[in-house]
Amino acid sequence: MKKFLIISAFTAFAATGCDAQQTAGNDPTQEKNQVIETIMARRSIRAYKPQPVPHDVLDKILECGINAPNGMNAQQWEVRVVDSKEWLDNATAAYKKTVAGTPAEKAAADPSFVNMFRNAPTVVFIAHKPGPCTQVDCGLMAGNMVLAAHSLGIGSVCMMGPLGFFSTPEGKPYLESLQLSEGYDLLLCIGMGYADEQPAAKPRNRDVIKYIK
Ligand SMILES: Cc1cc2nc3c(=O)[nH]c(=O)nc-3n(C[C@H](O)[C@H](O)[C@H](O)COP(=O)(O)O)c2cc1C
Repeated sequence: MKKFLIISAFTAFAATGCDAQQTAGNDPTQEKNQVIETIMARRSIRAYKPQPVPHDVLDKILECGINAPNGMNAQQWEVRVVDSKEWLDNATAAYKKTVAGTPAEKAAADPSFVNMFRNAPTVVFIAHKPGPCTQVDCGLMAGNMVLAAHSLGIGSVCMMGPLGFFSTPEGKPYLESLQLSEGYDLLLCIGMGYADEQPAAKPRNRDVIKYIK
């Protein structure tokens, strides 16, 4: 038995070592890469199934968010999660009053409109303490979250559009309910849920990339 274990351990070590050598010799850009596949497959989702994201799944997504690089690891960000249908519906009803007579009112009257957060049943709010790095920090945090979400089968959409509502008198109670610390401002929110659409990738302009000699 002892001999078998030693042989098994050696075989496992030899196989791993061999794999590592093979990987080093190959072109890594040609190999299957889950991270790159996730980045390329993620799309903004604006139609969702009604159920919110389970909290164990959400925990992983949020953990990935706070592991983003950030200036001097100061972590001057706060995250709030809302998946109460009542909160989202009431905020949306209040939002509708603020957009009366604007094109947004027409959009909100569309039969496909569920709520002001692009119809998502779970919304993650990201706030920052304004500083030289914090907008970038929060963007990287959001990037980690949407990619982690996609890798776990959760659709998402980053949004800044809904934030205007929170500085209106109608939005104030909802902003207060997020219980942000003194000095922290909402920066963006992310709608999340199970996707009910599969949008195609939007075109990207590769000309923005230049190698400098
Ligand atoms: C900072 C930021 C703000 C955004 N705000 C909104 C928004 O308010 N409403 C919306 O529907 N999408 C919003 N988006 C999503 C973009 O429209 C989307 O990422 C872009 O069109 C590219 O599409 P893709 O995410 O499917 O690749 C935002 C994205 C970012 C990064």
